[in-house]
Amino acid sequence: MTIRNQFDIEALRRIGHIVAETLELMKSSIEEGITTLELDAIAEANFARYGAASAPKKVYGFPGHTCISVNEAIAHGIPSKRKIRKGDLINLDVSAELDGYFADTGFTMAYENDSRQVAKLCDCSQRALRKGIAQAKPGRKLNLVGQAIEREAELNGFATIRNLTGHGTGGALHEYPDHIFNYYEPKQKDVFAEGMVVAIETFVSTGADFAEDAGDGWTLTTADRSFVAQYEHSLIVTGEGPIILTQVMK
Ligand code: CO
Ligand code: CO
Repeated sequence: MTIRNQFDIEALRRIGHIVAETLELMKSSIEEGITTLELDAIAEANFARYGAASAPKKVYGFPGHTCISVNEAIAHGIPSKRKIRKGDLINLDVSAELDGYFADTGFTMAYENDSRQVAKLCDCSQRALRKGIAQAKPGRKLNLVGQAIEREAELNGFATIRNLTGHGTGGALHEYPDHIFNYYEPKQKDVFAEGMVVAIETFVSTGADFAEDAGDGWTLTTADRSFVAQYEHSLIVTGEGPIILTQVMK
């Protein structure tokens, strides 16, 4: 959506805060043996506290309140009885709706994982998100975001997933612009407008360029079992710099 007035900004800040706080609660609850279903229940309870609805459940009928993807699952993982173990690479993607406004955020945590490559992957993807967000300015092309993300990934010897992208959000979970790619797409001519609400998300991978169906109708994986680190923020594009909606204020 494109914001029309102060009310839109306040409503977006509200739902942005809810998803950010929910993600923080889930992150701080990760421990050996907790199931992804139990992590999802934490999100369900926090959404309920505000009267917010899980966006993937409401919009797509997703069988969970949040997407939790572990190791070989890289996105849209279904909460299950799977227990978290030391060394797991866990992606939490949290999106919700309140009063017709949506926000979407994501984070990848390497839980007690001592692999230097995995740490480097997570650092790189977070840096790529910051650099991508820095490109989101009114009048500039959307494809500069992907250029920045891809450059950061390649500089570190990593790849990006081409068929998972950022997107417009705010008035719906996914809306125009449909794709903010993780690579430079010269054919994309769209530009950022003042007040545009977008979710920018990075999918940096140790090798694979594409996500594939894992076979349960939702979960995505990579053919070569690459590790992937995703980070995501929803933000409002403004001439004074982005207003990041899904950052927890500390
Ligand atoms: Co998301
Ligand atoms: Co998203």
